[in-house]
Amino acid sequence: MIVTIDGVAASGKSSVSSGVARALGIPYVSSGLLYRAATLLGLEAGVDLHDAPALLALLDNHAPRLEPLAEGNRVWSGTRELTDALHSSRVDAGVSVVAVLPELRAWVDAQLRALPEPFVAEGRDMGTNVFPHAGAKFYLTASPRIRAERRARERPEDIPAIEAALVRRDAKDQVQSAPAPDAQVIDTGPLTLEGVIGVILEGLGEVGKA
Ligand code: DC
Repeated sequence: MIVTIDGVAASGKSSVSSGVARALGIPYVSSGLLYRAATLLGLEAGVDLHDAPALLALLDNHAPRLEPLAEGNRVWSGTRELTDALHSSRVDAGVSVVAVLPELRAWVDAQLRALPEPFVAEGRDMGTNVFPHAGAKFYLTASPRIRAERRARERPEDIPAIEAALVRRDAKDQVQSAPAPDAQVIDTGPLTLEGVIGVILEGLGEVGKA
């Protein structure tokens, strides 16, 4: 069984996916971390991030792999752990360049499809492209202002600047980020983290009954 949780940037997907996975006693899989790992390796090697063949050659050499745990995903390249380096501002800035390359998307998709079930898959196109036959699909939304306010709690920057950056990122991510026709869309704006997790667990209960 695969449960997909897609949504816009900063909609709380990782925390929600982790909570749902823990409640179900299964791992969650963060697809974004694989795009981030490809970006980090490209930056470290000084490769042009638009150059798909060069990036694929690096991925062949370094073979980054995702360790999907319910508490949080880790990424390894051999014995080197990449996890902590994947949220730097350099990677944040480069990852949307890498994530539009079809060859890179195919590489990420192949990594994800090779993982043993069951799991919760989190990203932008899990329910649409990667796992169209998933057992249950959810899509999280929230207004840019609400997402900026949530993010401002984690980072001491001002809300309007974060909101503007999120709107720019939404535009860049738009190609990948649309709800599957059979996804349950959840507006997380009025809900707490526990509230969103509860709606999903309730939705899964309904799937089980159907
Ligand atoms: O969810 P995140 O912020 O870690 O995602 C990092 C980037 O990867 C972001 O620019 C969107 C992109 N991404 C994607 O295109 N498709 C996915 N399934 C997951 C992430």
